[in-house]
Amino acid sequence: MSEVVRKDFTNAPLCLSGRGVAKIFGMGNNKTTAVDYVDFDFHEGEFVSIVGESGSGKTTLSKMLLGLLNPSDGEILFQGKPRDISTGRKRKEYWKGIQAIFQDPFSSFNTFQKIDTVLLDCINMRGGRNLPKEKKIEMMTEACSFVNLKFAELTNKYPFELSGGQMQRLMIARIFLLRPKILLADEPTSMVDACSRATILDMLLNLRDETGMTVIFITHDIGLAYYISDTVYIMEHGKFVEFGKADEVIINPKAEYTKRLISDVPKIHEEWDLSTVDLLNA
Ligand SMILES: Nc1ncnc2c1ncn2[C@@H]1O[C@H](COP(=O)(O)OP(=O)(O)OP(=O)(O)O)[C@@H](O)[C@H]1O
Ligand SMILES: [Mg+2]
Repeated sequence: MSEVVRKDFTNAPLCLSGRGVAKIFGMGNNKTTAVDYVDFDFHEGEFVSIVGESGSGKTTLSKMLLGLLNPSDGEILFQGKPRDISTGRKRKEYWKGIQAIFQDPFSSFNTFQKIDTVLLDCINMRGGRNLPKEKKIEMMTEACSFVNLKFAELTNKYPFELSGGQMQRLMIARIFLLRPKILLADEPTSMVDACSRATILDMLLNLRDETGMTVIFITHDIGLAYYISDTVYIMEHGKFVEFGKADEVIINPKAEYTKRLISDVPKIHEEWDLSTVDLLNA
C-alpha cells in the first residue's frame, strides 16, 4: 500500500459537521440511544475514520449523515450551513454531494441493469447526458481503468456476473464518475481478502487525492484506520470518546476504550502490525 501523507485539516473549509446529534430508538424500557449527542467537524479533502465495535452507533450515524434517518436531536451542517433536506428537491440536491458504498456491494446495484447502463447513469447524473457517445465511452473506460477493470470486457455483463471484489471496484468506478463532495464508506472491505482490501483502500486514497473529496470511512479495525486516515473518531456506546489526528490518537491514546481497541489489534488482524507503535512510544 502507498504511504499515507497525513495533512493537518484544522483550518481547512468545513464539509460536514454535527452539533449535539443524537438518535434514540424506541421508548421506555426499550429505549436505545444509538448516537448519544455527538459533535464533529469533517473538512474538505479529509480522510476520516469512525472506529468502534459492533453496536457502537456507526451505521446509525452514517444514515443520519446520508439523510436516510432523521436525528432525534441536534443539527447537521453541510459546508458550514444548517443542512436543509426538508423537501424532495432539496434532498435530491444534497444527494448529489454525498455518495455511499456499503458493506454488501451486491445490494448496491439494480440486478437488471447492465454495467454500461450503471456507469452511463452516473455520467447522466453529472449532467453529461448530451455528451457525444465516444466521449461517454472514453469516460467509462477511464473510470474502469482507475479501478483496474477493463470496460470492454464488462459492457454487456450484469452486476451479478462479477465477483465480490470486481463489484466493489465497480462501486468505486461509479464514485469516480459521480465525483461527490463526500464519500461515506461503511466497512467497504469486509467482503474481500487482505490483498484486495489493500487495493481498495489504495483506490479510495487515490480517489480522495484526485478529486479532493472528503472520505468518511467506517470500520471496526483501528489498525486499518491508522494506516489510511488523517483523522480518527473513536466511538463507544454512541459517543465519541476520543478524536484527533490518526497518529496522535493511536500512538498516544487517552481513552481506555481506544487503548483496548489497540491492544486487541494483533489478535484480530495479524497483518496490521502495530509493533512500531510501542517503539515510538518508548
Ligand atoms: N432501527 C432500529 N431500531 C432500534 N434499534 C436500532 C435500530 N438500528 C440500530 N439500532 C440499535 O442501535 C445501536 C447501534 O447500531 P448500529 O447499527 O448503528 O451499530 P454499528 O456500530 O453500525 O454496528 P456494526 O459494527 O455491527 O455494524 C445498536 O444497539 C442497535 O441495536
Ligand atoms: Mg454498522
